[in-house]
Amino acid sequence: MAQRDAGGDAPPGHQNHPVGIAAVVLAAGKGTRMRSALPKVLHPLLGEPMICHVLRAIRYAGIPPERTVVVVGFEAEKVKQVVATQGAYLFATQTEQLGTGHAVKYAAPVLEELPPGTAYHVLILLGDGPMLRSETLQALIKAHLTATPLVTMITSEAPDPTGYGRIVRDENGQFSQIVEEVELTLAQKAINEINPSLYMYNAKWLWSTLPKLKPSPQKGEYYLTDIPALALEARPQAVQTFSAPFEEGLGINDRVQLAEADALLRQRVLRQHMINGVTITDPASTYISALARIAPDTIIEPNTHIKGDCSIGSSCVIGPNAILTEVHMGDNCKVLASMLENCQLENNVEIGPFSHVRSGSYLEEGVHLGNYAEVNRSRLGADTRQGHFSYIGDATLGKDVNVGAGTITANYDGKNKNQTIIGDHVFLGCDTILRAPLRLGEQSATGAGSVVTKDVQAGVTVVGVPARAIKRKPLNNNNKED
Ligand code: UD1
Ligand code: CA
Repeated sequence: MAQRDAGGDAPPGHQNHPVGIAAVVLAAGKGTRMRSALPKVLHPLLGEPMICHVLRAIRYAGIPPERTVVVVGFEAEKVKQVVATQGAYLFATQTEQLGTGHAVKYAAPVLEELPPGTAYHVLILLGDGPMLRSETLQALIKAHLTATPLVTMITSEAPDPTGYGRIVRDENGQFSQIVEEVELTLAQKAINEINPSLYMYNAKWLWSTLPKLKPSPQKGEYYLTDIPALALEARPQAVQTFSAPFEEGLGINDRVQLAEADALLRQRVLRQHMINGVTITDPASTYISALARIAPDTIIEPNTHIKGDCSIGSSCVIGPNAILTEVHMGDNCKVLASMLENCQLENNVEIGPFSHVRSGSYLEEGVHLGNYAEVNRSRLGADTRQGHFSYIGDATLGKDVNVGAGTITANYDGKNKNQTIIGDHVFLGCDTILRAPLRLGEQSATGAGSVVTKDVQAGVTVVGVPARAIKRKPLNNNNKED
Protein backbone atom coordinates (compact mmCIF):
# COMPACT_ATOMS: atom_id res chain seq x y z
CA MET A 1 0.00 0.00 0.00
CA ALA A 2 1.28 3.44 -0.92
CA GLN A 3 2.33 5.58 1.98
CA ARG A 4 0.69 8.94 2.11
CA ASP A 5 1.77 10.04 5.55
CA ALA A 6 2.62 13.68 5.89
CA GLY A 7 5.26 12.42 8.34
CA GLY A 8 6.82 10.47 5.47
CA ASP A 9 7.87 7.41 7.47
CA ALA A 10 6.54 4.01 6.53
CA PRO A 11 5.22 2.04 9.51
CA PRO A 12 7.43 -1.01 10.11
CA GLY A 13 6.34 -4.59 10.53
CA HIS A 14 3.25 -6.48 9.57
CA GLN A 15 0.20 -4.31 9.03
CA ASN A 16 -2.01 -6.22 11.43
CA HIS A 17 0.52 -6.46 14.20
CA PRO A 18 0.93 -3.80 16.85
CA VAL A 19 4.55 -3.15 15.96
CA GLY A 20 5.67 0.47 16.07
CA ILE A 21 2.73 1.50 18.26
CA ALA A 22 2.95 3.42 21.50
CA ALA A 23 0.18 4.69 23.75
CA VAL A 24 -0.39 7.84 25.76
CA VAL A 25 -2.89 8.00 28.63
CA LEU A 26 -3.92 11.42 29.91
CA ALA A 27 -4.27 11.44 33.67
CA ALA A 28 -3.00 14.82 34.85
CA GLY A 29 -6.31 16.47 35.66
CA LYS A 30 -7.72 16.94 39.14
CA GLY A 31 -11.22 15.93 38.19
CA THR A 32 -12.85 18.99 39.77
CA ARG A 33 -16.36 17.64 39.26
CA MET A 34 -15.61 14.63 41.47
CA ARG A 35 -15.25 17.06 44.42
CA SER A 36 -12.54 14.89 45.89
CA ALA A 37 -9.05 15.06 47.33
CA LEU A 38 -8.33 11.84 45.45
CA PRO A 39 -7.28 12.32 41.80
CA LYS A 40 -10.17 11.32 39.55
CA VAL A 41 -8.31 8.49 37.79
CA LEU A 42 -7.73 6.77 41.16
CA HIS A 43 -11.39 6.52 42.07
CA PRO A 44 -12.27 2.82 42.12
CA LEU A 45 -14.44 0.96 39.66
CA LEU A 46 -15.24 -2.60 40.71
CA GLY A 47 -12.74 -2.01 43.50
CA GLU A 48 -9.83 -1.09 41.20
CA PRO A 49 -8.58 2.42 40.43
CA MET A 50 -10.21 3.68 37.24
CA ILE A 51 -6.91 4.08 35.39
CA CYS A 52 -6.03 0.40 35.94
CA HIS A 53 -8.93 -0.60 33.69
CA VAL A 54 -7.63 1.68 30.93
CA LEU A 55 -4.08 0.36 31.29
CA ARG A 56 -5.28 -3.25 31.16
CA ALA A 57 -7.25 -2.66 27.94
CA ILE A 58 -4.06 -1.23 26.39
CA ARG A 59 -1.90 -4.15 27.57
CA TYR A 60 -4.44 -6.69 26.34
CA ALA A 61 -4.45 -4.96 22.96
CA GLY A 62 -0.75 -5.84 22.76
CA ILE A 63 0.94 -2.61 23.79
CA PRO A 64 3.30 -3.19 26.70
CA PRO A 65 3.84 -0.81 29.65
CA GLU A 66 7.32 0.03 28.32
CA ARG A 67 5.61 1.69 25.33
CA THR A 68 2.85 3.43 27.26
CA VAL A 69 3.29 6.94 28.65
CA VAL A 70 1.00 8.10 31.44
CA VAL A 71 0.77 11.89 31.65
CA VAL A 72 0.47 12.84 35.30
CA GLY A 73 0.06 16.21 37.05
CA PHE A 74 -2.41 16.62 39.91
CA GLU A 75 -1.16 14.42 42.80
CA ALA A 76 1.40 13.00 40.36
CA GLU A 77 3.17 10.83 42.94
CA LYS A 78 -0.03 9.13 44.06
CA VAL A 79 -1.03 8.38 40.48
CA LYS A 80 2.46 7.12 39.60
CA GLN A 81 2.49 4.82 42.60
CA VAL A 82 -0.74 3.14 41.54
CA VAL A 83 0.27 2.95 37.87
CA ALA A 84 3.64 1.40 38.81
CA THR A 85 1.81 -1.52 40.45
CA GLN A 86 0.52 -2.41 36.98
CA GLY A 87 3.86 -2.58 35.16
CA ALA A 88 6.96 -0.63 34.07
CA TYR A 89 5.03 2.32 32.67
CA LEU A 90 6.63 5.52 31.41
CA PHE A 91 5.62 8.88 32.85
CA ALA A 92 5.48 12.47 31.69
CA THR A 93 4.59 15.32 34.01
CA GLN A 94 2.28 18.13 32.94
CA THR A 95 2.87 20.70 35.66
CA GLU A 96 -0.02 22.99 34.74
CA GLN A 97 -3.23 21.53 33.31
CA LEU A 98 -3.90 23.64 30.25
CA GLY A 99 -5.99 21.10 28.36
CA THR A 100 -5.82 17.70 26.69
CA GLY A 101 -3.83 19.05 23.69
CA HIS A 102 -1.30 20.59 26.04
CA ALA A 103 -1.05 17.33 28.05
CA VAL A 104 -0.19 15.20 25.00
CA LYS A 105 2.84 17.42 24.20
CA TYR A 106 4.57 16.18 27.35
CA ALA A 107 4.53 12.60 26.11
CA ALA A 108 6.55 13.40 22.96
CA PRO A 109 10.05 13.67 24.52
CA VAL A 110 9.45 10.47 26.51
CA LEU A 111 8.48 8.53 23.39
CA GLU A 112 11.43 9.97 21.48
CA GLU A 113 13.76 8.19 23.89
CA LEU A 114 12.38 4.79 22.91
CA PRO A 115 14.33 2.70 20.39
CA PRO A 116 13.77 3.83 16.78
CA GLY A 117 10.65 2.35 15.21
CA THR A 118 8.83 1.88 18.54
CA ALA A 119 6.41 4.76 18.21
CA TYR A 120 5.45 5.40 14.57
CA HIS A 121 1.82 5.37 15.62
CA VAL A 122 0.45 6.60 18.87
CA LEU A 123 -2.81 5.81 20.62
CA ILE A 124 -4.14 8.67 22.72
CA LEU A 125 -6.58 7.63 25.43
CA LEU A 126 -8.04 9.15 28.57
CA GLY A 127 -7.49 7.97 32.13
CA ASP A 128 -11.17 8.71 32.83
CA GLY A 129 -12.48 6.38 30.10
CA PRO A 130 -12.32 2.98 31.81
CA MET A 131 -15.06 1.21 29.83
CA LEU A 132 -12.93 0.69 26.74
CA ARG A 133 -12.53 -2.97 25.72
CA SER A 134 -9.23 -4.24 24.35
CA GLU A 135 -11.08 -5.77 21.37
CA THR A 136 -12.23 -2.30 20.33
CA LEU A 137 -8.73 -0.96 20.74
CA GLN A 138 -7.46 -3.76 18.52
CA ALA A 139 -10.08 -2.85 15.92
CA LEU A 140 -8.92 0.78 16.10
CA ILE A 141 -5.31 -0.31 15.60
CA LYS A 142 -6.21 -2.56 12.69
CA ALA A 143 -8.27 0.12 10.96
CA HIS A 144 -5.47 2.63 11.35
CA LEU A 145 -2.71 0.32 10.12
CA THR A 146 -4.81 -0.71 7.14
CA ALA A 147 -5.72 2.73 5.86
CA THR A 148 -2.77 4.70 7.32
CA PRO A 149 -4.54 8.06 7.62
CA LEU A 150 -3.14 10.74 9.90
CA VAL A 151 -5.87 10.10 12.47
CA THR A 152 -8.22 7.21 13.11
CA MET A 153 -10.82 7.94 15.72
CA ILE A 154 -13.78 6.17 17.24
CA THR A 155 -17.14 7.91 17.41
CA SER A 156 -20.34 6.84 19.16
CA GLU A 157 -24.04 7.61 19.13
CA ALA A 158 -24.95 8.90 22.58
CA PRO A 159 -28.51 8.71 23.96
CA ASP A 160 -27.64 11.93 25.80
CA PRO A 161 -24.58 13.63 24.31
CA THR A 162 -24.40 16.40 26.93
CA GLY A 163 -20.85 17.10 28.02
CA TYR A 164 -19.12 15.31 25.16
CA GLY A 165 -17.37 16.80 22.16
CA ARG A 166 -19.66 16.47 19.10
CA ILE A 167 -18.67 15.12 15.69
CA VAL A 168 -19.56 17.64 13.00
CA ARG A 169 -19.84 16.22 9.47
CA ASP A 170 -20.21 17.95 6.09
CA GLU A 171 -23.15 17.53 3.70
CA ASN A 172 -21.55 14.30 2.36
CA GLY A 173 -21.30 12.84 5.81
CA GLN A 174 -17.53 13.29 5.88
CA PHE A 175 -15.90 14.24 9.15
CA SER A 176 -15.12 17.92 9.41
CA GLN A 177 -14.42 18.75 13.07
CA ILE A 178 -14.98 18.04 16.76
CA VAL A 179 -16.73 20.79 18.70
CA GLU A 180 -16.56 20.85 22.49
CA GLU A 181 -19.77 21.26 24.51
CA VAL A 182 -19.03 24.85 25.56
CA GLU A 183 -18.32 25.90 21.96
CA LEU A 184 -21.43 24.31 20.40
CA THR A 185 -23.91 26.34 18.39
CA LEU A 186 -27.58 25.74 19.15
CA ALA A 187 -27.93 23.57 16.01
CA GLN A 188 -24.83 21.53 16.89
CA LYS A 189 -26.25 20.74 20.34
CA ALA A 190 -28.68 18.37 18.61
CA ILE A 191 -25.83 16.20 17.28
CA ASN A 192 -25.79 12.81 18.96
CA GLU A 193 -22.53 11.56 17.50
CA ILE A 194 -19.87 12.14 20.15
CA ASN A 195 -16.13 11.95 20.56
CA PRO A 196 -15.21 9.28 23.13
CA SER A 197 -11.57 10.42 22.89
CA LEU A 198 -10.13 7.20 21.50
CA TYR A 199 -7.66 8.12 18.79
CA MET A 200 -4.73 6.70 16.91
CA TYR A 201 -2.33 9.11 15.24
CA ASN A 202 0.60 9.11 12.91
CA ALA A 203 3.05 10.09 15.62
CA LYS A 204 5.48 12.19 13.63
CA TRP A 205 2.66 14.24 12.16
CA LEU A 206 1.02 14.64 15.58
CA TRP A 207 4.19 15.94 17.22
CA SER A 208 4.76 18.41 14.38
CA THR A 209 1.14 19.62 14.59
CA LEU A 210 0.63 20.02 18.36
CA PRO A 211 2.53 23.35 18.46
CA LYS A 212 -0.07 24.75 16.02
CA LEU A 213 -2.90 24.39 18.57
CA LYS A 214 -4.41 27.67 19.71
CA PRO A 215 -6.19 28.22 23.03
CA SER A 216 -9.94 27.68 22.78
CA PRO A 217 -12.11 30.82 22.69
CA GLN A 218 -14.30 29.90 25.68
CA LYS A 219 -11.96 28.18 28.12
CA GLY A 220 -8.50 29.17 26.92
CA GLU A 221 -7.48 25.49 26.94
CA TYR A 222 -5.50 23.66 24.26
CA TYR A 223 -7.95 21.09 22.96
CA LEU A 224 -6.70 17.80 21.57
CA THR A 225 -10.05 17.75 19.79
CA ASP A 226 -8.86 20.49 17.40
CA ILE A 227 -6.20 18.17 15.96
CA PRO A 228 -8.38 16.05 13.61
CA ALA A 229 -9.57 19.21 11.80
CA LEU A 230 -5.93 20.22 11.33
CA ALA A 231 -5.32 16.83 9.75
CA LEU A 232 -7.93 17.63 7.12
CA GLU A 233 -6.08 20.86 6.34
CA ALA A 234 -2.93 18.80 5.80
CA ARG A 235 -4.59 16.31 3.51
CA PRO A 236 -8.18 15.50 2.48
CA GLN A 237 -9.46 12.24 3.95
CA ALA A 238 -6.71 12.25 6.53
CA VAL A 239 -9.28 11.44 9.20
CA GLN A 240 -10.82 8.01 9.41
CA THR A 241 -13.69 7.41 11.82
CA PHE A 242 -15.44 4.26 12.89
CA SER A 243 -18.21 3.64 15.30
CA ALA A 244 -18.20 1.78 18.62
CA PRO A 245 -20.86 1.38 21.33
CA PHE A 246 -21.34 4.49 23.45
CA GLU A 247 -20.78 2.50 26.62
CA GLU A 248 -17.11 1.96 25.75
CA GLY A 249 -16.38 5.63 25.52
CA LEU A 250 -18.13 6.67 28.73
CA GLY A 251 -16.13 9.45 30.30
CA ILE A 252 -16.29 9.77 34.06
CA ASN A 253 -16.43 13.33 35.30
CA ASP A 254 -18.53 13.07 38.44
CA ARG A 255 -19.68 10.48 40.96
CA VAL A 256 -22.99 9.92 39.20
CA GLN A 257 -21.14 8.78 36.08
CA LEU A 258 -18.80 6.77 38.31
CA ALA A 259 -21.75 4.80 39.70
CA GLU A 260 -23.24 4.36 36.22
CA ALA A 261 -19.96 3.05 34.81
CA ASP A 262 -19.50 0.76 37.81
CA ALA A 263 -22.93 -0.78 37.24
CA LEU A 264 -22.28 -1.30 33.52
CA LEU A 265 -18.83 -2.77 34.08
CA ARG A 266 -20.21 -5.07 36.77
CA GLN A 267 -22.84 -6.40 34.38
CA ARG A 268 -20.21 -6.87 31.67
CA VAL A 269 -18.03 -8.94 34.02
CA LEU A 270 -20.95 -11.02 35.35
CA ARG A 271 -22.20 -11.69 31.85
CA GLN A 272 -18.80 -12.94 30.73
CA HIS A 273 -18.64 -15.39 33.65
CA MET A 274 -22.13 -16.67 32.85
CA ILE A 275 -21.16 -17.14 29.20
CA ASN A 276 -18.08 -19.02 30.42
CA GLY A 277 -20.25 -21.50 32.34
CA VAL A 278 -20.57 -20.00 35.81
CA THR A 279 -24.04 -19.89 37.39
CA ILE A 280 -24.80 -16.56 39.03
CA THR A 281 -28.05 -17.02 40.90
CA ASP A 282 -28.76 -13.34 41.41
CA PRO A 283 -26.64 -10.98 39.27
CA ALA A 284 -28.24 -7.99 40.97
CA SER A 285 -26.59 -8.80 44.29
CA THR A 286 -23.31 -10.24 43.03
CA TYR A 287 -20.09 -8.22 42.81
CA ILE A 288 -17.11 -9.70 40.98
CA SER A 289 -13.89 -7.82 40.24
CA ALA A 290 -12.62 -7.55 36.68
CA LEU A 291 -9.58 -9.62 37.70
CA ALA A 292 -11.37 -12.71 39.02
CA ARG A 293 -11.15 -16.05 37.22
CA ILE A 294 -13.87 -18.63 37.83
CA ALA A 295 -14.02 -22.10 36.29
CA PRO A 296 -17.23 -23.54 34.79
CA ASP A 297 -19.95 -25.20 36.87
CA THR A 298 -19.25 -23.08 39.88
CA ILE A 299 -22.32 -21.47 41.43
CA ILE A 300 -22.18 -17.97 42.86
CA GLU A 301 -25.08 -17.48 45.27
CA PRO A 302 -26.65 -14.10 46.11
CA ASN A 303 -24.99 -11.30 48.00
CA THR A 304 -21.47 -12.45 47.24
CA HIS A 305 -18.45 -10.19 46.75
CA ILE A 306 -15.37 -11.48 44.93
CA LYS A 307 -12.71 -8.80 45.15
CA GLY A 308 -9.31 -8.30 43.57
CA ASP A 309 -7.31 -11.07 41.96
CA CYS A 310 -9.24 -14.22 42.89
CA SER A 311 -9.25 -17.60 41.20
CA ILE A 312 -11.99 -20.13 41.86
CA GLY A 313 -11.99 -23.67 40.54
CA SER A 314 -14.88 -25.61 39.05
CA SER A 315 -17.99 -26.97 40.80
CA CYS A 316 -17.59 -24.69 43.81
CA VAL A 317 -20.52 -23.06 45.60
CA ILE A 318 -19.74 -19.58 46.85
CA GLY A 319 -22.30 -17.81 49.02
CA PRO A 320 -24.90 -16.77 49.82
CA ASN A 321 -23.26 -13.93 51.73
CA ALA A 322 -19.60 -14.65 51.04
CA ILE A 323 -16.86 -12.02 50.83
CA LEU A 324 -13.66 -13.17 49.13
CA THR A 325 -10.63 -10.92 48.62
CA GLU A 326 -7.55 -12.20 46.77
CA VAL A 327 -8.49 -15.83 47.33
CA HIS A 328 -7.25 -18.78 45.27
CA MET A 329 -9.19 -22.00 45.55
CA GLY A 330 -9.35 -25.36 43.83
CA ASP A 331 -12.35 -27.35 42.68
CA ASN A 332 -15.45 -28.39 44.56
CA CYS A 333 -15.07 -25.98 47.49
CA LYS A 334 -17.99 -24.53 49.44
CA VAL A 335 -17.99 -21.16 51.15
CA LEU A 336 -21.20 -20.24 52.95
CA ALA A 337 -21.70 -16.84 54.61
CA SER A 338 -18.01 -16.36 55.39
CA MET A 339 -15.17 -13.94 54.81
CA LEU A 340 -11.86 -15.01 53.23
CA GLU A 341 -8.84 -12.80 52.58
CA ASN A 342 -5.48 -13.43 50.87
CA CYS A 343 -5.61 -17.15 51.35
CA GLN A 344 -5.38 -20.36 49.40
CA LEU A 345 -7.68 -23.38 49.46
CA GLU A 346 -7.01 -26.75 47.82
CA ASN A 347 -9.86 -28.90 46.44
CA ASN A 348 -12.92 -29.97 48.48
CA VAL A 349 -12.57 -27.40 51.25
CA GLU A 350 -15.77 -26.43 53.08
CA ILE A 351 -16.18 -23.24 55.04
CA GLY A 352 -18.99 -21.72 57.01
CA PRO A 353 -21.35 -20.45 57.94
CA PHE A 354 -19.79 -17.44 59.68
CA SER A 355 -16.09 -18.19 59.48
CA HIS A 356 -13.15 -15.90 58.77
CA VAL A 357 -10.00 -17.04 56.99
CA ARG A 358 -7.37 -14.34 57.14
CA SER A 359 -4.19 -13.36 55.32
CA GLY A 360 -1.51 -15.89 54.67
CA SER A 361 -3.63 -18.94 55.44
CA TYR A 362 -3.48 -22.16 53.45
CA LEU A 363 -6.11 -24.89 53.71
CA GLU A 364 -5.19 -28.25 52.25
CA GLU A 365 -7.54 -30.65 50.53
CA GLY A 366 -10.71 -31.58 52.41
CA VAL A 367 -10.34 -29.09 55.27
CA HIS A 368 -13.62 -28.33 57.02
CA LEU A 369 -14.21 -25.07 58.87
CA GLY A 370 -17.62 -24.89 60.40
CA ASN A 371 -19.28 -22.15 62.42
CA TYR A 372 -17.37 -19.19 63.80
CA ALA A 373 -13.92 -20.50 62.98
CA GLU A 374 -11.13 -17.96 62.60
CA VAL A 375 -7.87 -18.95 60.90
CA ASN A 376 -5.04 -16.45 60.65
CA ARG A 377 -1.57 -16.91 59.03
CA SER A 378 -1.95 -20.66 59.44
CA ARG A 379 -1.75 -23.85 57.44
CA LEU A 380 -4.27 -26.61 58.02
CA GLY A 381 -3.37 -30.06 56.70
CA ALA A 382 -5.62 -32.30 54.62
CA ASP A 383 -8.93 -33.34 56.21
CA THR A 384 -8.37 -31.25 59.32
CA ARG A 385 -11.63 -30.14 60.94
CA GLN A 386 -12.34 -26.99 62.90
CA GLY A 387 -16.05 -27.31 63.35
CA HIS A 388 -17.04 -24.74 65.96
CA PHE A 389 -16.08 -21.34 67.34
CA SER A 390 -12.30 -21.30 67.69
CA TYR A 391 -9.16 -19.33 66.80
CA ILE A 392 -6.12 -20.75 65.04
CA GLY A 393 -3.38 -18.13 64.52
CA ASP A 394 0.30 -18.48 63.51
CA ALA A 395 -0.09 -22.24 63.47
CA THR A 396 0.71 -25.22 61.32
CA LEU A 397 -1.65 -28.14 61.71
CA GLY A 398 -0.93 -31.52 60.18
CA LYS A 399 -3.49 -33.71 58.47
CA ASP A 400 -6.62 -35.13 60.08
CA VAL A 401 -6.43 -32.90 63.14
CA ASN A 402 -9.61 -32.43 65.15
CA VAL A 403 -9.89 -28.92 66.54
CA GLY A 404 -12.47 -29.07 69.32
CA ALA A 405 -15.03 -26.36 69.93
CA GLY A 406 -13.58 -23.35 71.69
CA THR A 407 -9.93 -24.15 70.91
CA ILE A 408 -7.67 -21.08 71.01
CA THR A 409 -4.05 -20.65 70.02
CA ALA A 410 -2.75 -18.04 72.47
CA ASN A 411 -0.29 -16.82 69.85
CA TYR A 412 0.45 -13.34 71.17
CA ASP A 413 2.38 -12.75 74.39
CA GLY A 414 2.03 -8.98 74.27
CA LYS A 415 5.26 -8.55 72.28
CA ASN A 416 5.62 -11.33 69.75
CA LYS A 417 3.41 -13.58 67.69
CA ASN A 418 4.47 -17.16 68.44
CA GLN A 419 4.03 -20.35 66.45
CA THR A 420 2.04 -23.47 67.29
CA ILE A 421 2.96 -26.64 65.44
CA ILE A 422 0.53 -29.54 65.61
CA GLY A 423 1.29 -32.98 64.15
CA ASP A 424 -0.95 -35.30 62.12
CA HIS A 425 -4.00 -36.96 63.71
CA VAL A 426 -3.94 -34.80 66.86
CA PHE A 427 -7.18 -34.53 68.85
CA LEU A 428 -7.76 -31.21 70.60
CA GLY A 429 -10.53 -31.42 73.18
CA CYS A 430 -13.11 -28.67 73.65
CA ASP A 431 -11.86 -25.41 75.10
CA THR A 432 -8.17 -26.23 74.74
CA ILE A 433 -5.89 -23.24 75.08
CA LEU A 434 -2.55 -23.65 73.34
CA ARG A 435 -0.01 -21.19 74.74
CA ALA A 436 2.48 -20.57 71.93
CA PRO A 437 5.28 -21.24 71.16
CA LEU A 438 4.21 -24.83 71.33
CA ARG A 439 4.57 -28.20 69.59
CA LEU A 440 2.17 -31.12 69.80
CA GLY A 441 3.49 -34.38 68.40
CA GLU A 442 1.56 -36.74 66.11
CA GLN A 443 -1.45 -38.52 67.58
CA SER A 444 -1.28 -36.53 70.81
CA ALA A 445 -4.48 -35.32 72.48
CA THR A 446 -5.72 -32.71 74.93
CA GLY A 447 -8.59 -33.05 77.38
CA ALA A 448 -11.51 -30.63 77.54
CA GLY A 449 -10.54 -27.33 79.16
CA SER A 450 -6.79 -27.97 79.17
CA VAL A 451 -4.34 -25.09 79.08
CA VAL A 452 -1.28 -26.43 77.29
CA THR A 453 1.89 -24.53 78.19
CA LYS A 454 4.58 -27.12 77.33
CA ASP A 455 5.31 -29.21 74.26
CA VAL A 456 3.43 -32.51 74.07
CA GLN A 457 5.21 -35.61 72.81
CA ALA A 458 3.74 -37.82 70.08
CA GLY A 459 0.99 -40.11 71.28
CA VAL A 460 0.65 -38.42 74.70
CA THR A 461 -2.62 -37.11 76.14
CA VAL A 462 -2.52 -34.04 78.41
CA VAL A 463 -5.28 -32.67 80.63
CA GLY A 464 -5.84 -29.90 83.16
CA VAL A 465 -4.47 -26.46 83.95
CA PRO A 466 -1.58 -26.35 83.25
CA ALA A 467 -1.92 -29.50 81.20
CA ARG A 468 -0.13 -32.67 82.36
CA ALA A 469 0.29 -36.04 80.69
CA ILE A 470 -2.02 -38.88 81.68
CA LYS A 471 -2.06 -42.50 80.64
CA ARG A 472 -4.58 -43.46 78.01
CA LYS A 473 -5.16 -45.88 75.23
CA PRO A 474 -3.66 -44.89 71.87
CA LEU A 475 -5.90 -42.53 69.83
CA ASN A 476 -8.26 -44.15 67.45
CA ASN A 477 -8.43 -42.14 64.24
CA ASN A 478 -12.14 -42.48 63.86
CA ASN A 479 -12.48 -40.28 66.90
CA LYS A 480 -14.06 -37.52 64.89
CA GLU A 481 -16.00 -34.77 66.55
CA ASP A 482 -18.90 -33.06 64.90
C1 UD1 B 1 -12.78 15.27 26.70
C2 UD1 B 1 -12.82 15.72 25.24
C3 UD1 B 1 -14.24 15.55 24.72
C4 UD1 B 1 -14.67 14.11 24.85
C5 UD1 B 1 -14.54 13.64 26.30
C6 UD1 B 1 -14.75 12.15 26.36
C7 UD1 B 1 -11.14 17.48 24.98
C8 UD1 B 1 -10.90 18.92 24.89
N1 UD1 B 1 -12.41 17.09 25.16
O1 UD1 B 1 -13.62 16.14 27.43
O2 UD1 B 1 -14.30 15.91 23.34
O3 UD1 B 1 -16.01 13.98 24.42
O4 UD1 B 1 -13.21 13.90 26.80
O5 UD1 B 1 -14.74 11.70 27.66
O6 UD1 B 1 -10.22 16.72 24.83
N2 UD1 B 1 -6.29 15.91 31.26
C9 UD1 B 1 -4.93 16.12 31.40
N3 UD1 B 1 -4.45 17.38 31.33
C10 UD1 B 1 -5.23 18.45 31.10
C11 UD1 B 1 -6.62 18.24 30.93
C12 UD1 B 1 -7.12 16.96 31.02
O7 UD1 B 1 -4.18 15.18 31.60
O8 UD1 B 1 -4.70 19.55 31.03
C13 UD1 B 1 -6.80 14.53 31.35
C14 UD1 B 1 -7.74 14.36 32.54
O9 UD1 B 1 -7.02 13.90 33.66
C15 UD1 B 1 -8.75 13.35 32.04
C16 UD1 B 1 -8.71 13.49 30.53
O10 UD1 B 1 -7.56 14.24 30.21
O11 UD1 B 1 -8.39 12.03 32.40
C17 UD1 B 1 -9.95 14.20 29.97
O12 UD1 B 1 -10.09 15.46 30.55
P1 UD1 B 1 -11.50 16.07 30.90
O13 UD1 B 1 -11.30 17.42 31.45
O14 UD1 B 1 -12.29 15.10 31.69
O15 UD1 B 1 -12.13 16.20 29.43
P2 UD1 B 1 -13.66 16.26 29.03
O16 UD1 B 1 -14.19 17.60 29.35
O17 UD1 B 1 -14.37 15.11 29.59
CA1 CA C 1 -13.78 13.49 30.99
